[in-house]
Amino acid sequence: MTPDPQWWRQAVVYQVYPRSFADSDGNGIGDLRGITSRVPYLRDLGIDAVWLSPFYPSALADGGYDVDDYRNVDPRLGTLADFDELVGALHAAGIRILVDIVANHSSNAHEWFRAALAAAPGAPERNRYIFRDGRGARGELPPNDWPSHFGPSAWTRTTNPDGTPGQWYLHLFAPEQPDLNWDDPEVAADFITTLRFWADRGVDGFRIDAAHLLKKDLSEPYRPVPTIGIVADYPDDGSHPLADRDEVHEIYRSWRRVFDEYTPPRVAVAETAAGPVRRARYAGADELGQAFDFDLLDTPWDAVAFRDTISACLDGARISGSSPTWTLSNHDIVRHASRYALQADTDLNRWLLANGTDPLPDLAQGLRRARAAAMLLLALPGSTYLYQGEELGLPEVADLPAEVLQDPQWFRDAGARKGRDGCRVPIPWEPTGPSFGFGSGGAHLPMPAWFSDYSVERQVGVPTSTLELYRAALRLRRELHAGESLTWDDGTEGVVSFVRDTGWRSITNMGSGPIPLPAGRILLASGPVPGHEVPGETTVWLQRTT
Ligand code: GLC
Repeated sequence: MTPDPQWWRQAVVYQVYPRSFADSDGNGIGDLRGITSRVPYLRDLGIDAVWLSPFYPSALADGGYDVDDYRNVDPRLGTLADFDELVGALHAAGIRILVDIVANHSSNAHEWFRAALAAAPGAPERNRYIFRDGRGARGELPPNDWPSHFGPSAWTRTTNPDGTPGQWYLHLFAPEQPDLNWDDPEVAADFITTLRFWADRGVDGFRIDAAHLLKKDLSEPYRPVPTIGIVADYPDDGSHPLADRDEVHEIYRSWRRVFDEYTPPRVAVAETAAGPVRRARYAGADELGQAFDFDLLDTPWDAVAFRDTISACLDGARISGSSPTWTLSNHDIVRHASRYALQADTDLNRWLLANGTDPLPDLAQGLRRARAAAMLLLALPGSTYLYQGEELGLPEVADLPAEVLQDPQWFRDAGARKGRDGCRVPIPWEPTGPSFGFGSGGAHLPMPAWFSDYSVERQVGVPTSTLELYRAALRLRRELHAGESLTWDDGTEGVVSFVRDTGWRSITNMGSGPIPLPAGRILLASGPVPGHEVPGETTVWLQRTT
């Protein structure tokens, strides 16, 4: 592993959703030993780092983003010794590891929340969370009408130890995820302890969940809040009472001081819904260092839109001095092989509620575009975050029946939103077996029969497979070793084309008809390149030969 402290600037980071990656003990839930057993696969893929979604003890009200204990491993996923073994195996393979820090809220089973419920209103134990009296003659109404991200109200009433109704507490997500009070010094100190705990165990960095939500303006009268979403429309000027407050940056400056105690300094990436300019503050060298550029997630398949989005993200990175972070999929959205199989204006939630049948996706087109888009992203300067399974070209499992759904979005919104389980189905390793090689005992979300064709085993060594495309792209990207600049080619309509400083040119033909292939040696292509043309929905990488 390179000792370069700037290793993250152009890293390819692979997100592992631990419960759905590999199950070593056959209980249907992926675990740490399962991930360790697949380190050779990750090494052969050619990634630089793994980001592990939460593996901490949790009742799984929100897939592990409801943390009971920040400095431990869920017994169903293993032990701290298993974690150490995983870190050792990854490092030995030259792969770094980032873990998820969920600081906006704990779970309601966290010892702090249990102590808060047992304590009287006004007690210090309650001050670690956000408790308020209700409105109405008997406090029967919530303190205000703020909505939760998972709907409906952001407030839940407590029951006192004697059984009488009590105060209300704030939860921007599910009721099982009470928001922490970041004005309480004990909360701030405890997260520093958590960061050190994992950094001391060899963790190279952190992904900061909901980074823009930690500080709130709770002054009264409460201001109306139309939405508090992770990716939501809200004023991009710091005026929202619950999101992207200026005060939040003090927290990240204090975290940076901790990161810099280590050699090389620990890195971090913010999950935030702030726009490119305000996002740059989270990504500053004195704060987290990077912030996700989620903008491509909802950019339509259109060359002008892609180029504009990419330019805005490059500009944002220039403001912060950081590098951009590209991504097409994660555990919160419909997989991009399916998104690209649908018209851009498709309401994805309605499509999921219709079990993926209305409209019917054009999966061949989706895969063609997904492959082209992946190559485009991997040619850009900056770091790229991949989500497990995208290297197999996996589409969304859109037809999960209601009775297997786990996502709080589904339960909280009374079935109005199907939620995110369809991208969290375990990934297929083998073409046969009850869980396609995920484990010996089935899977916690059902895996469809068609997963067989997408399995790792079916794709390894097949030159035209999506897995081999990713492997080749990652290998080339490393070898080409370009600097952080990009020069746009003059626009041919429908084409996104640019050159990196080493003469590496990436051309994505987003249209449907072919365009002439420019001069140069073909390094890689996302699909067949017959003759001297780049077919539609295809990316070609060329090396300038002059
Ligand atoms: C982030 C996570 C998401 C989770 C939410 C609450 O957006 O990515 O999965 O539900 O935060 O922790």
